[in-house]
Amino acid sequence: MITIVSHPLVQHKLTLMREKSTDNALFRETLREISFLLAYEVTKDLDLGTREIETPLERGTFPWLEGRRICFVSILRAGNGLLEGMLDLVPDARVGHIGLYRDHATLQPVQYYLKLPEAIGERDVIVVDPMLATGNSSAAALTMLKKAGARRLKFMCLLAAPEGVSAFEKAHPDVPIFTAAVDRQLNEQGYILPGLGDAGDRIYGTA
Ligand code: URA
Repeated sequence: MITIVSHPLVQHKLTLMREKSTDNALFRETLREISFLLAYEVTKDLDLGTREIETPLERGTFPWLEGRRICFVSILRAGNGLLEGMLDLVPDARVGHIGLYRDHATLQPVQYYLKLPEAIGERDVIVVDPMLATGNSSAAALTMLKKAGARRLKFMCLLAAPEGVSAFEKAHPDVPIFTAAVDRQLNEQGYILPGLGDAGDRIYGTA
């Protein structure tokens, strides 16, 4: 299942990020802002617990989200651009990292790093990567997480290609996808068109 977050603020900010004259600092800041808005959607059905507290007038039991039960998993390196904003919203969340690079010849993902919090199977896991292009890296990341025991999984990106959505859904039909837009297609190098270029390079100024 795919959810396209069509909120006007998300769409406006995404256009700003697509614009090639947007510099690295503004790109990074806008990604952080969009991550708040996407996170709002992705987290809207999380289980709420309760907490007993005292207001200035009375004692009572009120809704409470146990942040430590949530785990954000960033697919390095561009995932970190989305992760920062998510952590601002849920500072207690646990964080995992998966290092995958794309072999430019085969477009296949190669794993170089995996670090996850313990008891991953008991957490709500939200995997973040700005670009769902071929779907190979994200699908591989989800496979790694399932092997590690993760059960409640969601995938959040900024931009997707139809090819990536199909590949991801074929590999992981049980994992919902959240994105701001699905663009037209991939080019021969596996970049999304019209897209926004290389998200990692634009976040970190490495182009
Ligand atoms: N990764 C990116 O950063 N950009 C694309 O267009 C595709 C994959």
